[in-house]
Amino acid sequence: MGKLSTHKRSRLCGVIHALTVAPVRINGRALLYLYLPVSTDLPVSSCKALSVDKLTLTHDPAPTTEGNENMTKIIGIVQVKGGAGRSTLATNLAGELSKVGRTVLIDGDMPQGTSASWYSVRQESGKAGDLITATATDHRELIDKTEHYKQSADYIVLDGPPRIAEMTRAILVLADLCLIPVGASVAEIWATADVLTLIEEARQVRPVDARMVWTRHRPYTNLAKELATQAEAELGLPILSGTMGMRVAYTEALGSGLTVAEVGDTTARMEMRLLVAEIKKIIR
Ligand SMILES: Nc1ncnc2c1ncn2[C@@H]1O[C@H](COP(=O)(O)OP(=O)(O)OP(=O)(O)O)[C@@H](O)[C@H]1O
Ligand SMILES: [Mg+2]
Repeated sequence: MGKLSTHKRSRLCGVIHALTVAPVRINGRALLYLYLPVSTDLPVSSCKALSVDKLTLTHDPAPTTEGNENMTKIIGIVQVKGGAGRSTLATNLAGELSKVGRTVLIDGDMPQGTSASWYSVRQESGKAGDLITATATDHRELIDKTEHYKQSADYIVLDGPPRIAEMTRAILVLADLCLIPVGASVAEIWATADVLTLIEEARQVRPVDARMVWTRHRPYTNLAKELATQAEAELGLPILSGTMGMRVAYTEALGSGLTVAEVGDTTARMEMRLLVAEIKKIIR
């Protein structure tokens, strides 16, 4: 299976002191062994050699869910820039998906826990419905909890941290669809270029469907047009047609444990419905 010893792997990347192995069933058909460094937040450049062998796919001899149309769909939200809108997208998506299926929102950005806090407010106001939440403090916990909830959930939404971390790498490999919120600044285009490197690493072991989502979007401004041109030229990732505009409704909804489809701004409600419909179509 191309597995290397821990010793050899350690030699491949000098900063790695220990590696972990975690079996993960992907779509019920494959077993993924994650060989991930215990230390987190490693610069990508220091791990290039490791990345080739870090993630090894091997076939499970007994597929269990082939043809199962109720298979859990996992959507990961990744972006390495802070404040990019990951939690806003994760909470809105999880809240809306929970209206059509059992949904778990896993907050992988602890101790900040924006998504977990949003859920607490939602639960206190009696609006949790078919949505539950969990938190993960490291990639191993994220993998374990994702596995656990796959037994019962229709959708799992993973909210990632603003870092090039093992958590971000794990999300890219676990998710059926990875969404990368990109806001209205060139800094977010640069940050997305860093995500591309992580996507390429993950693609060495599994196809990764990664797509950008414009957020804080102001479509008629020159800046938005320039950024769209730059993103197309430099990033080469697909961009969803649905967007999240620059709207107070997003901040209000986040603090109220709601989705923007549940607050008074009809434009925000419509754009969220369109965005969720597009995402559901991609993952179905
Ligand atoms: N489309 C939007 N329009 C207006 N404000 C927004 C929009 N998206 C996010 N915000 C606001 O920007 C702030 C950061 O958003 P959010 O917490 O979703 O980002 P994040 O990437 O999860 O940040 P962090 O790095 O802190 O985890 C929040 O106050 C949020 O309400
Ligand atoms: Mg966040």
